[in-house]
Amino acid sequence: MAERGHPDAQPPRPILGIETSCDETAAAVVAADGRVLAQRIAGQDALHAPFGGVVPELAARAHEARLAPLVEAVLAEAGLALEDLAAVAATAGPGLVGGVMVGLVTAKALAWASGRPLVAVNHLEAHALSPRLVAPGLAFPYLLLLVSGGHCQILVVSGPGRYRRLATTIDDAAGEAFDKVGKLLGLGFPGGPAVERLARAGDPAAVPLPRPLLGSAEPHFSFAGLKTAVLRTVEAGGHAAADIAAGFQAAVADCLIDRTARALARARGVRALVAAGGVAANALIRDRLAALARSRGLPFVAPPQWLCTDNAAMVAWAAQERLSAGLAPDPLDCPARPRWPLDPEAEPVRGAGVKA
Ligand code: KG4
Ligand code: ZN
Repeated sequence: MAERGHPDAQPPRPILGIETSCDETAAAVVAADGRVLAQRIAGQDALHAPFGGVVPELAARAHEARLAPLVEAVLAEAGLALEDLAAVAATAGPGLVGGVMVGLVTAKALAWASGRPLVAVNHLEAHALSPRLVAPGLAFPYLLLLVSGGHCQILVVSGPGRYRRLATTIDDAAGEAFDKVGKLLGLGFPGGPAVERLARAGDPAAVPLPRPLLGSAEPHFSFAGLKTAVLRTVEAGGHAAADIAAGFQAAVADCLIDRTARALARARGVRALVAAGGVAANALIRDRLAALARSRGLPFVAPPQWLCTDNAAMVAWAAQERLSAGLAPDPLDCPARPRWPLDPEAEPVRGAGVKA
């Protein structure tokens, strides 16, 4: 595990991580060996639930009110002062820019006041490297299915800062589709966990639903047509909500598996199949991906549920990985980046809803 070694002769020190790019306010302290010394998350589901989705301005204000006490709490729990840290890290994008600014400006102030370096972390890189926090033996390169509320991508991860995007969504992200279907079924926000719960009581074959781009020669994902088909089914009536939830979840799983299998067949030399992001918390999707990996003779790694959804431990860990790999910290005037693709060389794809 040479990748995890630290070049300093000094015992490597912990990093404070901050996450505010969507609707979780989070702070964590993670040691260089991956021990999570302290972490706190303040979710905002109740705040946004009446609107059926995240309201950016409300999210930013809530981050501002909640972040400082969380930072104080994790430092106290870890028994550390700012000066004890190797660096202060925050998500600098992609995400809702108001929230990102709150976390990034806070991290800059803490870094400036303590003289510690700042690491501006790409939220997608934090998800992408999060599996190594719990699976220290996971070696590069690996094939990553990154499935969250804002992103649905397949990437070859060769190391910190080294990503090749093989596929992305041409319209909605998988988590976004779960959220929209949750709303259609009156399950509230966020939809993913609620749809999964309801699907347990349903028959996945009861409602015929499309599998967009299944078997397609192009590598990408699409979920807009599936979402519309669910809308039509709900409008037409006559189907139990649990059957719709189960049918929808099965359709998403089929699409994710088909696209991932296609990518695996083309990605040479990957040493594992890895899933990360909020949708990777879904048990059916995890089981199907594990079976796919097994059939290809590859290990399958997905972080535990708390690490799949947004959190600050993954941000601190990504910063540890970046510094260990010899990548430089960031200047205090680095910008918040609402859009920040992991692979800037990736071909643009058709479709209007492409996020990165
Ligand atoms: O990674 P994440 O916390 O935030 C983003 O970076 O987007 O992902 C949140 C997304 C939401 O769309 C949520 O509905 C979905 O992940 N999600 C799930 C499950 N848990 C969270 N989707 C399906 N099944 C789940 N169990
Ligand atoms: Zn995320």
